[in-house]
Amino acid sequence: MQSNTDKFGKTPHQSSLWTRADALKVRADDPTTTQPLVSADFPVLNNEVFIWDTMPLRDLDGNVTSVDGWSVIFTLTADRHPNDPEYIDENGNYDITRDWNDRHGRAKMYYWFSRTGKDWKLGGRVMAEGVSPTAREWAGTPILLNDQGEVDLYYTAVTPGATIVKVRGRVVTTEHGVSMVGFEKVKPLFEADGKMYQTEAQNAFWGFRDPWPFRDPKDGKLYMLFEGNVAGERGSHKVGEAEIGDVPPGYENVGNSRFQTACVGIAVARDADGDDWEMLPPLLTAVGVNDQTERPHFVFQDGKYYLFTISHTFTYADGVTGPDGVYGFVADSLFGPYVPLNGSGLVLGNPSSQPFQTYSHYVMPNGLVTSFIDSVPTDATGTQIRIGGTEAPTVGMKIKGQQTFVVAEYDYGYIPPMLDVTLK
Ligand code: FRU
Repeated sequence: MQSNTDKFGKTPHQSSLWTRADALKVRADDPTTTQPLVSADFPVLNNEVFIWDTMPLRDLDGNVTSVDGWSVIFTLTADRHPNDPEYIDENGNYDITRDWNDRHGRAKMYYWFSRTGKDWKLGGRVMAEGVSPTAREWAGTPILLNDQGEVDLYYTAVTPGATIVKVRGRVVTTEHGVSMVGFEKVKPLFEADGKMYQTEAQNAFWGFRDPWPFRDPKDGKLYMLFEGNVAGERGSHKVGEAEIGDVPPGYENVGNSRFQTACVGIAVARDADGDDWEMLPPLLTAVGVNDQTERPHFVFQDGKYYLFTISHTFTYADGVTGPDGVYGFVADSLFGPYVPLNGSGLVLGNPSSQPFQTYSHYVMPNGLVTSFIDSVPTDATGTQIRIGGTEAPTVGMKIKGQQTFVVAEYDYGYIPPMLDVTLK
């Protein structure tokens, strides 16, 4: 635990630590925490666009919500360029890998709809060109506010800077489909402060993004999770006893792990509408363990707070490692202390034979986990790959106390509603 004080000098809570000792318990390929192999002959949702982070429409309590029987998802989306000379290699072939790797720079928010919770039909862009203030529209959360169909889309406006923003619009349904109207005025909410959350000036590789607003089931107040890094100049962080945890003899050397400073941030709304926010100290820090805890989100179950966040192999610190996938922590109250699920934190990782098969897992309160396909090997050595940019098979998971278990696999992009709202 790390001590924090807010601007009034009180200590609202202590950040829980994901320690190096916890991470040493990560076991890749444990079948109870490993995503089933994704076959290389997967179907592609749409050949014109790449999609990755998937954001189901939900209410403030976390329930995935359909409207008038229509399921709705938002996705980070970028055009594919199979005919663009810029992505044709020296042999005259489309370099899809480079096109895919460049996608973050042109990410836009799109929406899709479905009657069946799968086989998604493309609705289009949520905001018209020029509405969002920056080049990139990065991940966030669409919230259905009421039975008028009002939607608050929280997301991250990136380059220049990284600002958590929101834009309000409305979902409209007909018997033929769904459209999004409005989404014309983007409201900046907050940026990293340099005191609790690292700024770009402190570290050019900083992360500050992926808002996930929610109503606390216990105190009823409006909060928001987000991804951050712990404030301070790059290289200045200390990986001490607390961050190391209880390691066996020979595991005290932390190498250059001071450069890995991920945290899960939290903010509280000062108003009922969520237009005015105050950042609080991180809920969870991973200093000396990992540099990215992306897309943090909760499942509220059995009176507990299950905190999930996605992370990568390449963002782990020296001396610790784990698969790309979703990690989790549990607490009895919102502000912790949080304990890593399954001892290590690993909840659902890629199998080591297909380390990049999926990413950006989102755990829904019904135990279903959606993700996107990144790349799947097409030969035994793994040198040939097929790029995804489409929905992965959904995984079914059971959450029991401090443990999780993979129990089922469903169709590609299966995101069934947990409740339906009839619009007035
Ligand atoms: C996760 C992620 C998010 C970010 C987006 C950028 O896949 O890295 O954290 O918002 O993708 O494309």
